[in-house]
Amino acid sequence: MSTRIPVSGAGFRPYEVIVGRGLLESLGTRIAPLARGRAAVVTDETVAALHGPATLAALEAAGLRARLLTVPPGEGSKSFAELERVLDRLAAFGLDRTDLVIALGGGVVGDLAGLAAALYMRGIDFVQVPTTLLAHVDSSVGGKTAIDTHRGKNLVGAFHQPRLVLADIDLLSTLPRRQVRSGWAEVLKHGLICDAGFFDWLAAEGAAGAAGDPSALERAVVRSVEIKSRIVGEDEKEAGRRALLNLGHTFGHALEAELDFDENRLTHGEAVALGCVLAFRYSAAQGLCPAGEADRVARVAASAGLPTALEAAGSFHADAVLKRMTGDKKAEGGRLTLVLARGIGDAFVQKGVDRKTVAAFLRAEGAA
Ligand code: GLY
Repeated sequence: MSTRIPVSGAGFRPYEVIVGRGLLESLGTRIAPLARGRAAVVTDETVAALHGPATLAALEAAGLRARLLTVPPGEGSKSFAELERVLDRLAAFGLDRTDLVIALGGGVVGDLAGLAAALYMRGIDFVQVPTTLLAHVDSSVGGKTAIDTHRGKNLVGAFHQPRLVLADIDLLSTLPRRQVRSGWAEVLKHGLICDAGFFDWLAAEGAAGAAGDPSALERAVVRSVEIKSRIVGEDEKEAGRRALLNLGHTFGHALEAELDFDENRLTHGEAVALGCVLAFRYSAAQGLCPAGEADRVARVAASAGLPTALEAAGSFHADAVLKRMTGDKKAEGGRLTLVLARGIGDAFVQKGVDRKTVAAFLRAEGAA
């Protein structure tokens, strides 16, 4: 059993996200109509060891010539140097515009392989096979691809939509529990943005999903992808509504940056969870949202094993965090743009947020 979720918008060719279990072995037959001869599978060394042989076997069984192109695991691979190496290996493999790039991995691999596909021969098709929960529910859908530079994360990239996303829930069984919990933060985010009923279900089932229960995960992935694909379909290039997907990210990204993006101290998903709690508490402090709703967000995040207070992540200086938030590329002209909420399931984008009020709020939350 699998669920097919269409993604379509004015500016791009429609595609499907297929969510289900045991999908990897059908990869070759599913993509055979999209690729004439070759499939270059970009992956990292960890994922290659776990899923590389099964992926190659699935592609070869469908008559495709397939090759694994591995990169080191971790954010460091989102670099010009690694992008160049991937592009060079695509050329060495003899890929042409009738062939296909497959991103087999988490957000790093998806962003890097997607950008390589966007650039190679001015753009060739690619398919996402996400292997982390974060990639299942967020980064594999919507066509954002990027690498980092020393001046910022995701600073160089392109919108390049995949031809297909194959979200195999079984691939999550090898994921470390902390990574599952981190992906769960993005799932909670989708409920918080626009689906209070989904959030109610997550509140009831959250502990099971965040602990890796496959049926809870499958349902959570399906609903998250439905929400994300609808938003992307309405606003591919983030001129408006897509910015809602940044709920929790402006606070969260600033905290990650203050901790030098050290995943041992704070993963991206943990930062997003904490960021969502802060966005709701800030909304409550401004009288935009009932305080009880903010408390509930924190309770549900905590029950999924996610951090809900600044001191759980580290010690922070309000001015330093605020500087990071303003420097974030989502800030316009030095003013602060935040995704805030009127309640669970009712997020909105607030421009021109007063910096002093945010600094005072951060101090009230325990920042120095
Ligand atoms: N992860 C946010 C977006 O895709 O827009």
